[in-house]
Amino acid sequence: MKFRTMFAAALIGAAAFAPAIAADEPQVVRQEMMKKVGGATGAMAKMVKGEADFDAAAALAALTAISEVAGSFGEQFPEGSETGMETEAAPAIWSDRAGFDAKLAAFKASADAGVAAAPADLDGLKAVFGPLTQNCGACHETYRLKKS
Ligand code: HEC
Repeated sequence: MKFRTMFAAALIGAAAFAPAIAADEPQVVRQEMMKKVGGATGAMAKMVKGEADFDAAAALAALTAISEVAGSFGEQFPEGSETGMETEAAPAIWSDRAGFDAKLAAFKASADAGVAAAPADLDGLKAVFGPLTQNCGACHETYRLKKS
C-alpha cells in the first residue's frame, strides 16, 4: 500500500513535470531505449573483451533488455517526430519504413536467438554477441544521423 501511494505520487510528480522535460515524447523515449541497448551491449562487451568476468545472469538480462527494446522501438516513430528533442533519427526511417522495419526485425531475431541460447559460458556469449552487434551499424548507417 505504501509503495502504491509513493508510486502514485511519483506519477503525479512526473505528470507535473512533463511539459518541461517532455519525457513522454517519442524522440526522448526512443533515445532512452537506445541508451538502454548501449548499456546492455557495453556490459556484454566487457565480458567478451575479458574486462569483466562472465556472468550468465547479467548476460541473459542484457540480451533480454535488448530483445524488449527491439520489440517496441518501432512504435516510437510516429509522424511528427522526425525532428526535435535532439533526435538522431534519419529521414530514411519515414521515407523507407519497410527497410527500417526489416533491420529492426533482424535485430529482434538476433536478440531473441541470444535469449534462447541463454549463454552458459564466455564462448556461448561470444557466439551470440557477434551476430547481435552487427545489427547496430547495419541500422545506424542508414537510419541514424551522424552527429559531428
Ligand atoms: C533498427 C535500427 C537500429 C538498430 C538495430 C540499433 N539501433 Fe541504435 N539507434 C537507432 C536510431 C534510429 C537511433 C537514434 C534515435 C533518436 O535519436 O531518435 C539510435 C541511437 C542509438 C544510440 C544513441 C542513444 C542516445 O540518444 O543517447 C545508441 C547508444 C545506440 N543507438 C546503440 C545501439 C547499439 C549498441 C545497437 C546494437 C546492439 C543498436 N543501437 C542497434 C536505430 C537502431
